[in-house]
Amino acid sequence: MAASIDAEYPIGIIPAMQDNLIYLLPGTNSCCAVIDPGEAEMVLTLLEQAKLTLTHVLLTHGHSDHTGGVSLLKKKSGCSVLGSDLRRTPEINIVVQDDQLVDMCGFRIRVIAAPGHTSSSVCYYLEPDGGGKGAVFTGDTLFICGCGRLFECAAQQMFDSIKRLAALPDDTLLFPGHDYTVENMRFALTVEPNNMAIRRQLEVLNRDGSLAAIPSSMGFEKQTNPFLRTQSPDIRRTLNLADAPDEQVFAELRRRKDRF
Ligand SMILES: [Fe+2]
Repeated sequence: MAASIDAEYPIGIIPAMQDNLIYLLPGTNSCCAVIDPGEAEMVLTLLEQAKLTLTHVLLTHGHSDHTGGVSLLKKKSGCSVLGSDLRRTPEINIVVQDDQLVDMCGFRIRVIAAPGHTSSSVCYYLEPDGGGKGAVFTGDTLFICGCGRLFECAAQQMFDSIKRLAALPDDTLLFPGHDYTVENMRFALTVEPNNMAIRRQLEVLNRDGSLAAIPSSMGFEKQTNPFLRTQSPDIRRTLNLADAPDEQVFAELRRRKDRF
């Protein structure tokens, strides 16, 4: 039977370093994938505790806070390393491309090229199986209630990338590369103060801790994430961009967030 996201195959969330998030994806036959291991020690401990065999590492981009653990994990497990930035991460032995399908641990994963944060950033879409929910690992492209900084690309490229992600089904679970949710929501309220879905979720996170936001869903992001809400009249009014093209609203939001 193929693996799916349910109680039998939960996705492990490992907070690492200051605010990074590493994900553990256990599949069939005790095999396991890890997404963006910025460090190795906690991953190795958890693998041993759960008696899982690491077979694949998936990298969304080449920044060291997402790849710092790759070398040791590969050495200890002999796992395959999938990623797009061979220049920054020479441990990669499968260079992935847009729309590529990867079958591993009983899962089918589709690669989504997402230039914006870096020119070669990718996201990994775990396709739903048997009517279950899909999941997407977005690295530093789409955060909960935010998006990544533009280091190597123009705003238009990032905007196109997050629009592609937003086209995934609304029940798609969103697993971002950093725990920035509370700060992102505070920023979002500066441009859309009457968004009650954000206010309600902030209350929950203030009570239960920021990790309670993970995973989000694409449907919830469409209600709350300002970078996916460039058509909101409230946001446009705040930015004095009532009739501007969506891309211009996005770029202005990104500029304001950089200064926030
Ligand atoms: Fe990054």
